[in-house]
Amino acid sequence: MNILDAIKQDHDQYKDQMQQLIEADRIGQSEKDLFQRFSSDIDAHMKAEQQMFYPVLEEQDMAKKHVLQAYEEHHVASLVMDELKSVQQMDERWMAKMQVLSELVKHHIQEEESVIFRHARDLLDSDELDALGDQWESSKQQVMRQTQPTGTGRSSRR
Ligand SMILES: [Fe+2]
Ligand SMILES: [Fe+2]
Repeated sequence: MNILDAIKQDHDQYKDQMQQLIEADRIGQSEKDLFQRFSSDIDAHMKAEQQMFYPVLEEQDMAKKHVLQAYEEHHVASLVMDELKSVQQMDERWMAKMQVLSELVKHHIQEEESVIFRHARDLLDSDELDALGDQWESSKQQVMRQTQPTGTGRSSRR
């Protein structure tokens, strides 16, 4: 699968997960688990993009402006997500924050799939897009291993 299709597939999953969270009547254990999965997945997705996708595009002047903006959108989404993780009670305020995160992420996804993908198609041929796509899942796995929360990972310090 080429990297654009792989990224798009992730995006569809995140939109679906966010929708499920927003539409939940109450926040029970299954919503907490869903949020946990969503946040660690999207975190790895953003970091993988920053490690192996954005840098390739950034080299070109035309794309650079949009890529820099995308980094900032990741940054803001991470800030809101960190707050969502640290709020103890998943109440109406948590839900309001979740709504805001969902809007941010949907906006980012839309820009990425239009503007960023267009630059990627201009700059990279289909073999290069396929080659990046082959590395996509392993890059995310690698990022996830690096950011394993303390206590659940294979920590050598314990
Ligand atoms: Fe993305
Ligand atoms: Fe992104």
